Amino acid sequence: MAEPRHILAIDQGTTSTRSIVFDAEARVVATAQREFAQHYPAQGWVEHEPEDIWRDVLATAREAIAEAGLTAAGIAAIGITNQRETTLLWDRATGEPLHRAIVWQDRRTADACERLKKAGHEALVRARTGLLIDPYFSATKLAWLLDHVEGARERAERGELAFGTVDSFLLWRMTGGRVHATDATNASRTMLFDIHRQEWSRELIALFAIPASLLPEVRDSSEIVGHCDAGLFGAPIPIAGMAGDQQAALVGQGCFDPGSAKATYGTGCFMLLNTGERPVASVNRLLTTTAYRIDGETSYAVEGSIFVAGAAIKWLRDGLGLITHASQTDDMATRVEDNGGVYMVPAFVGLGAPHWDAHARGLICGLTLGTSAAHVARAALESVGYQTADLITAMIDDGAAKPALLRVDGGMSANDWLCQFLADILELPVERPANLETTALGAAFLAGMAVGLWDGRAGVAALTRQAARFEPAGDPDTRAALLAGWRQALARALGRQV
Ligand code: G3P
Repeated sequence: MAEPRHILAIDQGTTSTRSIVFDAEARVVATAQREFAQHYPAQGWVEHEPEDIWRDVLATAREAIAEAGLTAAGIAAIGITNQRETTLLWDRATGEPLHRAIVWQDRRTADACERLKKAGHEALVRARTGLLIDPYFSATKLAWLLDHVEGARERAERGELAFGTVDSFLLWRMTGGRVHATDATNASRTMLFDIHRQEWSRELIALFAIPASLLPEVRDSSEIVGHCDAGLFGAPIPIAGMAGDQQAALVGQGCFDPGSAKATYGTGCFMLLNTGERPVASVNRLLTTTAYRIDGETSYAVEGSIFVAGAAIKWLRDGLGLITHASQTDDMATRVEDNGGVYMVPAFVGLGAPHWDAHARGLICGLTLGTSAAHVARAALESVGYQTADLITAMIDDGAAKPALLRVDGGMSANDWLCQFLADILELPVERPANLETTALGAAFLAGMAVGLWDGRAGVAALTRQAARFEPAGDPDTRAALLAGWRQALARALGRQV
């Protein structure tokens, strides 16, 4: 029988689960996608039902394989990529979760984080993990589960439970409980992992009071970590690539050279700049993170995490009823000559980098009787550009060279108006690939490299294709005035005096 030459990538995101089959030329052959329920049990809390996630992973994977006209025998490997930081705790004997997953956006541990910061622990966390103390990361979420689910801590101490981010949970389920592992990128978002030594940090495990027996083994992002149960898809396909979704997008964009950068516009926006083998410590409250670990070698990135990008457009649709489809915003933004002095700060769940203010809340300002729905839509799109500009400024202040260009992807990057605005406000060329599903592509690349379908980083980088390029235009005075208006709006959202 011919060697299998397709890769199945599973992209388990915050609001939907996608499975995509790629061929050996990295072309999309089949896609299956499902949205799933979000649970908001209290203000600032966000949870996912693990069984929903598992059900959709299986269903979309089976659908994509069938739609590609293949059977499992035609799939050379599976790559998994996932929403990061989201925290699960399950029973090692039954595989059953003890609680719903606590999602990365969840702020229930904000007070616990404040206490840790006040007690002076941030310097240690920063030095070991490259992160800041924030509810965003897994450690305080896991501690919350141990302290609030009846009997969890005692059971964890007896070695009966397993912790994992979504990648680990899926790997565990796919291998029928045989493999409890994560990859170095996902581990580096837990606030428990020493990114320099590439191992769980004893000091942090002690600080957050996490029983070490809960933790998964940490593997490379590109290696065979296990085989899925033959019963799931009809053959024991190797699971050969795992990475957090933002790191996977970096790989999918072919950003392997130090200095190359990508920004993914999904629910939030995550910009990563590859810094090669050097972990760059930020003084501007950006994160230092593992970009990928291949053949035991770690590459690092600095990351700017913005919590709300596409979610602001979703809010225009579902919260305000201003639009019926996200794509309308392109047209609306073009219809008005300028923003009419209207600014939106989409701090719906606080602000991430570089501000890290869990208590900031959103605002729209500069309203007049001349303000139209189009101005508000434009303000929402512009806010994404300004936040990206703030990240680039922080990266440059940190000593990184300004990237030569920015590669964009994710659903929102389909918006031409936004891409041009980004180029203008960043004063950088913006490139957009033909396939916006770079996250899934990155997971496929990692898996395909591990099974020898593709020849290392150079081999996969040659398969990436940029389809559109937006050159910076616009005059410097307008740019400066826009940025000044944004800074004023931001100061109000942060509750500071202008
Ligand atoms: O850090 C959170 C990030 O991984 C979520 O990405 O695309 O699911 O919104 P996304």
